[in-house]
Amino acid sequence: MWALRAEGLTFHYPGLDLFRDLDLALEPGEVRAVLGPSGSGKTTLVHLLAGILPLHDGRLWWGEVEVGGLDEEALARLRRGRVGLVFQHHYLLDELTALENVLVPGLITGNPDRGRALELLERVGLAAHAHQHPETLSGGERQRVAVARALYPRPRVVLADEPTGALDRANAQKVARLLLELARENGAAVLLATHDEALADGVPAWRIEDGRLIETD
Ligand SMILES: Nc1ncnc2c1ncn2[C@@H]1O[C@H](COP(=O)(O)OP(=O)(O)OP(=O)(O)O)[C@@H](O)[C@H]1O
Ligand SMILES: [Mg+2]
Repeated sequence: MWALRAEGLTFHYPGLDLFRDLDLALEPGEVRAVLGPSGSGKTTLVHLLAGILPLHDGRLWWGEVEVGGLDEEALARLRRGRVGLVFQHHYLLDELTALENVLVPGLITGNPDRGRALELLERVGLAAHAHQHPETLSGGERQRVAVARALYPRPRVVLADEPTGALDRANAQKVARLLLELARENGAAVLLATHDEALADGVPAWRIEDGRLIETD
């Protein structure tokens, strides 16, 4: 059983063939980086795997569920429960506190677990900031809230697209390390898309090449 699997994934923008017959699979708990220079398609790939962009051809599974057969509502519900997302810019809600932001998936389903949200905030070093709003947090702190939020629903897979792209080196390393640690503790697989090879140091990586993923050493 895979945590995430794509088969024959194909996608193009007008005039730009980006992915052709790409295969990818992550086992439960497996961590992989996706490397490639600017414009190689990292963000697009993450959006495809998150079901945010529709595939032009191929098949996609989250766990045992094939994503292509779902309507919008089922897709959104399943994504909320199974796929954690972390982007370069955190997309936290400014009108909510850090704690409430982590709890958002629980608020939507009407079953918020404050204890778990607080525990996650503690793990990312923000217990003392739980009741602050995002605009009163530093960039690194906001990304740590975003990491806690991504892990809150116990997703099987976390998709991260340049999750530290807006941070300085020290904060980038800290956020990346926390993301990988929390994912391991929660048994989530991770796909970490970045142009920053140092960030992916020690993480097995794929490189985007000719519309497919190639193993790197
Ligand atoms: N909505 C769009 N319409 C047309 N072309 C697009 C669109 N979005 C992205 N592209 C093109 O697709 C290619 C891949 O873009 P993408 O954002 O996925 O790359 P990336 O690897 O994430 O780059 P970066 O490292 O700069 O974030 C680029 O050439 C980009 O110009
Ligand atoms: Mg990008």
